[in-house]
Amino acid sequence: VARVMRSGSLLKSGAEVRLLEAEWADFIGSRFALAVDSCSHAIHIALLSLQLRPGSRVGVPSLGFVGTVHPIVQAGYEPVFIDVDARTFNIDHNLLENAEIDALVIVHLHGLPCDMDAVMDFARKKGVPVIEDACQAHGATWRGKKVGSLGDIGCFSLNEVKNLPAGQGGLITTSDERLHSRLRSLCGYGTTARGHYVDIGMSYGLSELPACIARVQLELLEERILRSQRNAQLMSDCFERLKGLLPPFVPLEAKHVWHKYRIWYAGSPDSIVRLLNSRGIPAEFWARYALPDHPAYHPNGRGTFYENGNTRKVVAGTFFLWTEKYPLIAQDSDTVSWVCEQIEEIVLLNSEEIDATPTHP
Ligand SMILES: Cc1ncc(COP(=O)(O)O)c(C=O)c1O
Repeated sequence: VARVMRSGSLLKSGAEVRLLEAEWADFIGSRFALAVDSCSHAIHIALLSLQLRPGSRVGVPSLGFVGTVHPIVQAGYEPVFIDVDARTFNIDHNLLENAEIDALVIVHLHGLPCDMDAVMDFARKKGVPVIEDACQAHGATWRGKKVGSLGDIGCFSLNEVKNLPAGQGGLITTSDERLHSRLRSLCGYGTTARGHYVDIGMSYGLSELPACIARVQLELLEERILRSQRNAQLMSDCFERLKGLLPPFVPLEAKHVWHKYRIWYAGSPDSIVRLLNSRGIPAEFWARYALPDHPAYHPNGRGTFYENGNTRKVVAGTFFLWTEKYPLIAQDSDTVSWVCEQIEEIVLLNSEEIDATPTHP
């Protein structure tokens, strides 16, 4: 970082950016990577690079963040919401079969990969391109392969609260050379190497300072993932024994990187979060509404929603331990053990409000 500051170069797409792109492609196992200024912009140009017809229908999970959905609308497409699996919180691939969509943006929510066997089987059968929103899942794997290398295009965030933070920024991966050159053009106003403007692109490039911060963070990423996995294991082992709590489920094929730790609670999530906060324990809610319920997408109604009821149950029956400001990935094991003891005590004290340990709906 000091070297970049001393160089006086705050260029977009300078040497640090190129190095970050090469290192990220290598880390993910994709042929190409492109650094951009946010993940929302990454998803925006990923969609544009697919050259869909105006008004195309783009499938997206109904649980998550607007940063996945706004780019669909910005690109001139219609978001088609698809409900989630109550155990993984990821898209319910059983609902895909009947979904009428031209493209799919899946999200590896909280750092847990989607069932990529099911998603890619559906996509290849129907000829539907897949963008992976891996904003929360840097380094996560499905059957040993990193997310971002499994669909057609992968999008990552480098914003300040993610597992690879550089303040602000994003990364796009693909192994398709044609898509990569279109993406590179779209993030620089739609220009070609010869100076013609062939696309309506935007100025979405990353500059040297965040690129070099991301390179330093990348060196630390695997070690941090191990820490978050150790912390999550400590918590899940404790919560499994407690009446009223259901810790997160991780399929055998997946490596979870624990950007967020979401728990089902049989009592009132509002009251336990209040109690935890009153003891100085970071706990919160995130994404409190089903995405199709935001008026931004369908001011006059809800649009298409392939629903199984789970998103609503998840937002009403779960809470998060740790917050974006105090993430699990940054905690030492003594702190995590202390939090487990506190939760055990709170749950025992409040056992009369808990009927039973929740089961997944
Ligand atoms: C799942 C998901 N998608 C998209 C985004 C948008 O990322 P960015 O802030 O880099 O635009 C975020 C993060 O904020 C996110 O969590």
